[in-house]
Amino acid sequence: MSSRIDVCVLDDEAAVAVAAAGIFAELLRRRPDAVLGLATGSTPEPVYAEMVRLHRDEGLGFARARAFNLDEYLGLDGDHDQSYRFFMQIHLFDYVDIRPWNTFVFDGKAADPEQECLAFEAKIRAVGGVDLWLLGLGTNGHIAFNEPGSDPASRSRVVTPDAETVEANSRHFADPAEVPTEALTAGVSTILDGRKIVLVALGAHKADAVARAIEGDRLPDCPASLLQGHSDCIFLLDRAAASQLS
Ligand code: F6R
Repeated sequence: MSSRIDVCVLDDEAAVAVAAAGIFAELLRRRPDAVLGLATGSTPEPVYAEMVRLHRDEGLGFARARAFNLDEYLGLDGDHDQSYRFFMQIHLFDYVDIRPWNTFVFDGKAADPEQECLAFEAKIRAVGGVDLWLLGLGTNGHIAFNEPGSDPASRSRVVTPDAETVEANSRHFADPAEVPTEALTAGVSTILDGRKIVLVALGAHKADAVARAIEGDRLPDCPASLLQGHSDCIFLLDRAAASQLS
């Protein structure tokens, strides 16, 4: 089957950030109580900076929005400076008018992580599903912490990130040995259930994964290629990330 993923190649990171934030802004203006799906990592940082600017300068409102995050490290408290909850607070939530009780990030310290995953899925169902997921992309093709080999039907669960992912994420930790070896993640199916998906990839180090996701076979060995099965998915890329597309 040929890919149904839309591709938009832009000049640079700034242009990609404006485009991605613009898609969220359009949704929020049309539907102020939209259900947003959010990612962490280096890639979305400029996207959140642009959302904050849109809130500050153009009155983009988040007061009625609900937000679900893709993943969280198991074992890290939300106050830990490497937790994804902490990331969301310092890059977006603290600077817009989203209500704290409408932000859902897995609790990395949950006493029962499996139950935490079931509760996450139930909360998404209770609000009628995610309208728009923002995704990043791992160099090995992962989306959220769905590593190569992930079941296309997978739902939120506890996973062990690949060594390549732990290595890549260790750049944020003072001591690489501190990188948690387990995580809670939305599943492939949890993501594919979203009504729209925007994947952002920046830089030449993502080019191989981008090409495999869009032009490769739709197989679990490249989880992002499973997005080919979604009817409304767009990749926003800078030129470097798009450089291996034919
Ligand atoms: C994080 C997430 C991950 C990242 C991916 C790329 O919430 O979903 O899949 O999107 O690891 O990370 P960066 O953007 O740091 O290259």
